[in-house]
Amino acid sequence: MVQLEGRRAMVTGAAGALGAVICEVLAREGADIGGLDLNASGLAATGDRVRAAGRGWAGAAVDLTDFVGVQEAAAGLVSRLGGVDILVNCAGGGAVSFFHEMSPETWRTQMARNLDQVFNVTRAVLPAMLAARSGRIVNIASIAAVSGGRLVRGATAYAAAKAGVIGLTKALAIEVAEQGVTVNAIAPGAQATPGRDRDTPQRRAALLDQIPTRLLGEPEHLAAAIVFLAGPAGVNVTGVVLPLDGGHSI
Ligand SMILES: NC(=O)c1ccc[n+]([C@@H]2O[C@H](COP(=O)([O-])OP(=O)(O)OC[C@H]3O[C@@H](n4cnc5c(N)ncnc54)[C@H](O)[C@@H]3O)[C@@H](O)[C@H]2O)c1
Repeated sequence: MVQLEGRRAMVTGAAGALGAVICEVLAREGADIGGLDLNASGLAATGDRVRAAGRGWAGAAVDLTDFVGVQEAAAGLVSRLGGVDILVNCAGGGAVSFFHEMSPETWRTQMARNLDQVFNVTRAVLPAMLAARSGRIVNIASIAAVSGGRLVRGATAYAAAKAGVIGLTKALAIEVAEQGVTVNAIAPGAQATPGRDRDTPQRRAALLDQIPTRLLGEPEHLAAAIVFLAGPAGVNVTGVVLPLDGGHSI
């Protein structure tokens, strides 16, 4: 039994390591996918994975920090998908920068990349969900916002932006709960994405020392958590921040 049959899901960061897996898993669960990302060739590759899973795909290459561009791109995707039931705000990413020497530009870039774009895309999609009195929004935050970036030092701007995502998630969850829209966040710890392959053995050992299960997160497991939040069993779950961090934040 698939859990998202006939649903239409918009996923940001769809060309990225986690976003591509999320698109494929949601498609395997029966959803058509609209992907947004800066990276046009990466989007095309994700589109191939979604079509191979037997579902419809629409992609739009756009800078998600550009409010006007996002409104146009998201409207185009909603039109091509015939509506939108699920939004996964996954685009983002950190940059190591120590606070005592951080430039205002680095601070602003991190806010734009990790928080502003969640506003831009959610603002574009929410009116259609409210009109339908149904919708599921899942924001990918980070355990850095919960535990202060102990896994990666130099993450103050990233942690602050992702903490903003968590605040937005909770406040919006309250605002739209009676209109049939749920808003939740996932706070992943370190994931087993290709970027981790650059770890030295010492770095990997230090990382695992911070994680009680001694396991990196698996992108497929993160995607499965999104399926739960966006599927039938998630109907009464809203405003939660789900750590997927092997107990790091305990
Ligand atoms: N990988 C991890 O270990 C981990 C842990 C915690 C949280 N996260 C979060 O999960 C999300 C996905 O991470 P990932 O590992 O897949 O990273 P990734 O770098 O592989 O993918 C991020 C994607 O976002 C896109 N993107 C970034 N800025 C954009 C912009 N302005 N406009 C359009 N697209 C933009 C990039 O092009 C990229 O495809 C991020 O929000 C990240 O902060 C990741």
